[in-house]
Amino acid sequence: MMLLCIMAALLSAQCSAVPGPVSVHRGHMTTLPCWLNPPQSAEDLEVYWYRTNQSDSPVMHYRERKFASTSQNGLYVDRVSFGSKDAVSGGLSSGDVSPKLLNVSLEDAGDYNCYVSSDRDHDHAVVTLVVIGECGEKWRKQKLPG
Ligand SMILES: *[C@@H]1O[C@H](CO)[C@@H](O)[C@H](O)[C@H]1NC(C)=O
Ligand SMILES: *[C@@H]1O[C@H](CO)[C@@H](O)[C@H](O)[C@H]1NC(C)=O
Repeated sequence: MMLLCIMAALLSAQCSAVPGPVSVHRGHMTTLPCWLNPPQSAEDLEVYWYRTNQSDSPVMHYRERKFASTSQNGLYVDRVSFGSKDAVSGGLSSGDVSPKLLNVSLEDAGDYNCYVSSDRDHDHAVVTLVVIGECGEKWRKQKLPG
């Protein structure tokens, strides 16, 4: 109980994520909306996005105002950056920590965990990505010569 009270007092902002899954067609780009509430700059925070059960190889890792690429999951190299959760997002300086993912593949479907921390506190949220394949793609390939 004591610990809970202390944590609540230290926690200045919490991570919010969209409640439902995000859907995107394969090959398109998407943004996984996640932000700090109440808004505060995330520029000096650590932002760690990872797939469930793959916390050792993050999708995106931002700390000390730059991207750390050493342990990045190879599937996401050159495909992720910070995006905007909506049209009025103020970006990272307004607490928008949403990653933008280019050229989404079927393998990208699943849960993405966002872990945001400072030296004082941390929080966590999950966004689920659903990837829609193109119906009839195989059929078209078989019908078209070449
Ligand atoms: C994560 O790993 C645990 C134990 O290895 C397993 O039971 C669980 O299904 C895994 N979850 C996912 C989403 O792969
Ligand atoms: C998109 O990803 C697919 C594999 O999922 C790859 O074959 C294709 O070359 C990529 N396209 C671009 C524009 O990077």
